[in-house]
Amino acid sequence: MVDAPDLRENGMTDRSLGLTTLRVIGIAGSLRAASFNRALLLAARELAPPGLIIEVWELKDLPLFNEDLERDGVPIAVADLRSAVRSADGLLLVTPEYNHGVPGVLKNAVDWLSQPLRQSALEGKPTALMGASTGLAGTARSQSQLRQAFVLTNSPVMQQPEVLVARAHEKFDAMGRLTDQPTHQFICLFLTRLAQWLARQKRIGTSADSY
Ligand code: FNR
Repeated sequence: MVDAPDLRENGMTDRSLGLTTLRVIGIAGSLRAASFNRALLLAARELAPPGLIIEVWELKDLPLFNEDLERDGVPIAVADLRSAVRSADGLLLVTPEYNHGVPGVLKNAVDWLSQPLRQSALEGKPTALMGASTGLAGTARSQSQLRQAFVLTNSPVMQQPEVLVARAHEKFDAMGRLTDQPTHQFICLFLTRLAQWLARQKRIGTSADSY
């Protein structure tokens, strides 16, 4: 197993990061107990380099999106999720793929986060994607759909590297531990890039706010 990379070994010092900690809300778009996507998210949390904290959020208590609830008082699970995302430095969505698209469970969360329109928790929120499927394309299509949605929500999305874990059933053991070495190394690279990108996004945000 490869250890999580230290950002300092990748030319990043605490000074170049410009901050001490980056906090990301991580959401897996599956309710399944043995979900490969949750397993991937938990692996990422474990492998995150120093300075990057991934806080795992579950979607099981989120009701189906209904605009009426917005008017009548949003459910507590929605309010909590919005507030967690607002206060975080970024969002990490780990998506399955159902019928060549984003599963309803995850799209539902994106829809809740996108409202109310002018106070959306997704407005300007740096977002990154990963995904695992048992098929060969490793959620390429569902990730592509999410990227489209983030155009409307005005959320910058990290472009590369793309984490498309294909044939997921061959890459995790029965306990949901990531056992595939190349995938392990690639997640480490992804997380290092994510930390660098989030640090840049944070600097851009700070300088824009100071105008
Ligand atoms: C799937 N699966 C699937 N896989 C894929 O690569 N492309 C697809 O379009 C679909 N479509 C699809 C539809 C439905 C309804 C189900 C239940 C499954 C397989 C899917 O990748 C697999 O079940 C994953 O294990 C789901 O992710 P979690 O729950 O393990 O995170």
